[in-house]
Amino acid sequence: MFTGGMGLGNTAVVILAAGRGTRMRSAMAKALHPLGGVPLVEHVVRAVRLAGLSTPWVVVGFQAERVEEILEAKAYSVRQPLLRGTGDALLRALDAIGDGYDQVLVLYGDGPLVPPDLIQELLAVHQAGGAACTLVSTMMPDPSGYGRIVRAADGQVAAIAEEREASPAQRAIREINTGLGVWRVAGLRRILAELPWHGEEQYLTDAVTGLLAQGAKVEAMVAPDCKRVMGINTRRELAEAEAIMRRLTLDRMLEAGVTILDPATTYIDAEVEIGQDTVIHPMTFLRGATKVGRDCELGPMTTITASRLADGVVVTRSVVEQSVLASKARVGPFSHLRAGTSLDRDVKIGNFVELKNTRVGIGTKAGHHAYLGDATIGGRVNIGAGTIIVNYDGIAKNPTFIGDEAFVGCNVNLVAPVEIGPGAYVAAGSTVTQNVPGEALAIARARQENKTGWVTTWKLQGGDRAPRP
Ligand code: UD1
Ligand code: CA
Repeated sequence: MFTGGMGLGNTAVVILAAGRGTRMRSAMAKALHPLGGVPLVEHVVRAVRLAGLSTPWVVVGFQAERVEEILEAKAYSVRQPLLRGTGDALLRALDAIGDGYDQVLVLYGDGPLVPPDLIQELLAVHQAGGAACTLVSTMMPDPSGYGRIVRAADGQVAAIAEEREASPAQRAIREINTGLGVWRVAGLRRILAELPWHGEEQYLTDAVTGLLAQGAKVEAMVAPDCKRVMGINTRRELAEAEAIMRRLTLDRMLEAGVTILDPATTYIDAEVEIGQDTVIHPMTFLRGATKVGRDCELGPMTTITASRLADGVVVTRSVVEQSVLASKARVGPFSHLRAGTSLDRDVKIGNFVELKNTRVGIGTKAGHHAYLGDATIGGRVNIGAGTIIVNYDGIAKNPTFIGDEAFVGCNVNLVAPVEIGPGAYVAAGSTVTQNVPGEALAIARARQENKTGWVTTWKLQGGDRAPRP
């Protein structure tokens, strides 16, 4: 029989993720909890893709819409109307995927660390062994909470004993069921439909007993690294997995030529990409789908979230969110780039500068203490210390335009909507409420008056000896 290479072409992929995750004690479905900034179930979908398999079906139930939303285009969804256990969940999936598959690869949505090459190995072992079901087991130092692999005297798999129903002798078994397995489709539906009930649930693990009763062969291959096949049921396990995930990501970065001075205090999300020879200083957090170029210098004490940084960017002791920084842009220390900030190349943002929804042109400088919001700023502009863009009138946010090579002096309010023409000068201390034409000088402050000898007169009148208030 032609099975298509390793049999991959004939394999349907199902991820079970309908459960609520009661043991998480959360209002949010377990599948949605982030690990390395990515929802648990999405890690499993990604592992399937990296293993070179077809688009998976994800069984969803609790908060189905929200899970479907994050998986849109990455997976098909199957609704499990009542959460009646992993056996019922797989049966729903089989109904949805229809005929035409020889085997179904099953993954649990709460096993996010599963390595793609383990999935490939499982399929190869299954193909070679010819069993009706090949499971992945592992030796867990602390097996509590998992289903135990019960083997007969000859070493063959005899059953899976779930923790709740396991005898004390079975509880002592350290070989556990990871949930990852591949099942022959022929005959599976009937076995699933007839699974025994445990309260309100039918366990997929009981299908092993069903197959054995029919004289079919069930095999378990032991995964060498138990950490990568752990299931997440509790926040404690989520934290454990986070530490493992973080180390995996850091190692990947180090191998790709990124310098990380202190891995112990560097937090990089799973989706982040970093170019060669970039240096990450201690206490730095790179979050979300952040992409960093080569030769950048980030940190110390810096958080960058969902942003794109080109080559040679420097960010020191600052916070950057949903922003785009072109090559050689420099930020910090102590600045805050909020959503929608875009810096062209060679822009310099110094200390205590906040930007929001603002585009800054090539080589422009805002060195100290400024707020720049909802503005479009040209190239080679100088923004003086204390410049505030007054973008909010209490009702609406208004735009500001500053032309190339304009010079905005210190302590200036630019009351939006307003336009400063190219090459214009705004005198220090001005509150600008009208557009300034290009190359013009705007002064919008009270004229200075000097009262000659005023202090001398005041002292002669004894003013300086009067008690201070
Ligand atoms: C399950 C296995 C156990 C194994 C462990 C590995 C069963 C009965 N037990 O236990 O042998 O050692 O995983 O981590 O399968 N789900 C649904 N619909 C449901 C119930 C669950 O889709 O009605 C999904 C959950 O969202 C979850 C997965 O199936 O992603 C496993 O369910 P969970 O309740 O976490 O099973 P465990 O008790 O961990
Ligand atoms: Ca689980």
